[in-house]
Amino acid sequence: MLTNNLIELNSNENSLGMSDAAKQAVINSLDIGFRYPDDQRAALITKVAEINGVTESQISLGSGSSENIRTVVQMLQNQALVAGKKFQVIVPHPTFAYAELYATSIDVPVVKVPLTTENYAFDLQSMQKVADDFDGISLFYLCNPNNPTSTITDTVKLKEWVGHAPSNHYFLLDEAYSEYVTDPSFESGVAWIREEYSENIVVVRTFSKLCALAGMRVGYAVASPQMIARLEAFISIDNTNLAGAVAALATLDDEDFLALSLRTANQSGQLVEQTLDELGLRYLPSQASFIFHEIKGDVQTYIDRMREHGIAVGREFAPITGFNRLTLGRPDEMAVFVEVLKSFREKGWV
Ligand SMILES: Cc1ncc(COP(=O)(O)O)c(C=O)c1O
Repeated sequence: MLTNNLIELNSNENSLGMSDAAKQAVINSLDIGFRYPDDQRAALITKVAEINGVTESQISLGSGSSENIRTVVQMLQNQALVAGKKFQVIVPHPTFAYAELYATSIDVPVVKVPLTTENYAFDLQSMQKVADDFDGISLFYLCNPNNPTSTITDTVKLKEWVGHAPSNHYFLLDEAYSEYVTDPSFESGVAWIREEYSENIVVVRTFSKLCALAGMRVGYAVASPQMIARLEAFISIDNTNLAGAVAALATLDDEDFLALSLRTANQSGQLVEQTLDELGLRYLPSQASFIFHEIKGDVQTYIDRMREHGIAVGREFAPITGFNRLTLGRPDEMAVFVEVLKSFREKGWV
């Protein structure tokens, strides 16, 4: 989004900005902007496959991971139609909304299973029951770490569930924020795809977060070669454009930038957590580039007041009330946020 000096902490963008290497790569690519991006897409697929320890036939690029999410929903709906079966999408609630939105737009029923009340975790048993009670194909959309809570799902339980699921249960594991996870127990679903017991798993990843390329629209799916072939039938041909592909490649090669990106998110997280501790506002321990924290008083009033002070904070995520999702921007941005939050406390607003 364009800014008027507004500090934007509402959309989980990476306000560090694109790496210099990515910017230069885009500039350099302009001379060949009249060509189709076959070579650059192929190079990106090779690189992404290498990073994930899978073959190139196990990668499908997306125009952002949003496109990969849409493709999974659409492909399974088509599979169900062809087989004369029913299809449903099961999502935790709240979570990132795109799987639900894409499903709803093509009349696929969506079942929302509330997070547990004690620690806002996925209610795996209840979600599984929804699928067990359904005569048809079910797709679980599981965002790990979850947006908006920024917490991860217990790896052992998740792996056990996915590994023993019947063939009509599919898992879309959205790992948009996995690079930020510090909890050593976290394991990516890509590891399970490598172990080959995984015909029913798709992992989606994005360049929009750690790599700071949200506007370049690059994401990808990792799955078995068979699953990728089925997904590719539903994805836009040549979807990742030249600028996006070269920017992604340059960023992956820029280890200093990736380290800086992670380090600044950590610094910002520490600053915010320390302040929330001081103010006695509860929060979930962040495993992502945002934090879900308590606000005393009406959250919408808080959002409006923050905007009046030049800061766009996130929103409330029903059905959880009294909490706000805050993107971890640059440390200098968070220093401003912290000052404003403290001044709100002095006024008795939070
Ligand atoms: C969990 C999650 N998945 C996917 C996306 C979309 O990412 P992309 O820019 O790759 O489409 C977001 C964006 O905020 C997100 O939070």
